[in-house]
Amino acid sequence: MKTAIVTGGAHGLGAAICARAAKAGYRVGVLDLKRDEAQACAAKLEGTGHVGLQADVTNEHQVKAAFDEFGVAPDLVVNNAGIVRFGPLVEHSIDDFRLVVNINLVGTYIVAREAGNRMIPRGSGSIVNLTSLNAVTPGPGAGAYPATKAAVANLTEHLSLELGPLGIRVNCVAPGFIDAGMSAPIYADPKVRALRGGAVPLRSLGSAEDVANAVIWLASDEAAYVTGHQLVVDGGVAHSVLLQLPRKVD
Ligand SMILES: NC(=O)c1ccc[n+]([C@@H]2O[C@H](COP(=O)([O-])OP(=O)(O)OC[C@H]3O[C@@H](n4cnc5c(N)ncnc54)[C@H](O)[C@@H]3O)[C@@H](O)[C@H]2O)c1
Repeated sequence: MKTAIVTGGAHGLGAAICARAAKAGYRVGVLDLKRDEAQACAAKLEGTGHVGLQADVTNEHQVKAAFDEFGVAPDLVVNNAGIVRFGPLVEHSIDDFRLVVNINLVGTYIVAREAGNRMIPRGSGSIVNLTSLNAVTPGPGAGAYPATKAAVANLTEHLSLELGPLGIRVNCVAPGFIDAGMSAPIYADPKVRALRGGAVPLRSLGSAEDVANAVIWLASDEAAYVTGHQLVVDGGVAHSVLLQLPRKVD
C-alpha cells in the first residue's frame, strides 16, 4: 500500500489533500500541531491504517519523531503547513515576518530534508510543496507570505535537481483564489466573493478539492516525468492582466 504524510493535514486544504490521498489508496499520516486534531482528521478518512501525528514543522526533532512514528518511508510527503500574517511591509512586525519565514520556508525545508533522507535508500518517492499565486505575483498587504512562497518554489526546483538522480520527484502546487482554509474568512463576504470570482477567467473561486486533485496527480505515476514544476491552480488568474485592463476607452 502507498503511504503519504501531509503536514498541516488536520484543517483546510491539508484535510482535503488527506481525503483525496486516502481515496487514491494511500495510508495517510495526518501531521499537525495538535495530535487530537490530526487524529480526528485521520479517523474520518476512507480506508484503514491512517494515523494522526503531532509535530511543529519548525522543530526538526518533532518532525523526525513523527516520521519515526509513521514507521515507513512515505511514498509521498506533502508540505502543506503554512501561515499568513497580513499588513503593509513597512509597518509589518519583524517578529511576524520571521514567524512566517520560519513556518513556510524553514519548516518546508525541514520536512523535505527528512522526507528526502527517508526516500533516498528506497530510490523512489514524491514531495509536493504548497506555494501560492503569491509566489508568481505578490499580493500587496500579505507581509512575508509572497516572499516565502516564491522561495519555496525555488527550493522545489533546487530539491528536484538534487533528488531527481536519486529517483525522487519534487513539485509544487500554487493555489489561486481558493474558498477554503486560511482564505475562507475573506470569501465569507459576498461582495468579495463576487468581485474575486468574477475576475477569474474560469469565472469561479477554486475549492480545496481542486488543489487536492492537483497534488495527488503530481504524486501519481501519470506525472512520472514531471519534476521541479510549479502547477498553478488558479482558474487562469496568473495570466489575466490584459483581460483585467480596458482595451478601449471612450
Ligand atoms: N487557502 C488558500 O486560499 C490558499 C491559497 C494559496 C496557498 N495556500 C497554501 O495552502 C496551505 C494550506 O493552507 P490552508 O488555507 O489550508 O490554511 P489553514 O490555516 O486552514 O491550515 C493550515 C494548517 O497548517 C497547520 N500548521 C500551521 N503551522 C504549523 C506548524 N508550524 N507545524 C505544523 N502544522 C502547522 C495548522 O494547524 C492547520 O491545520 C498553506 O501552505 C497555504 O499557504 C492556501
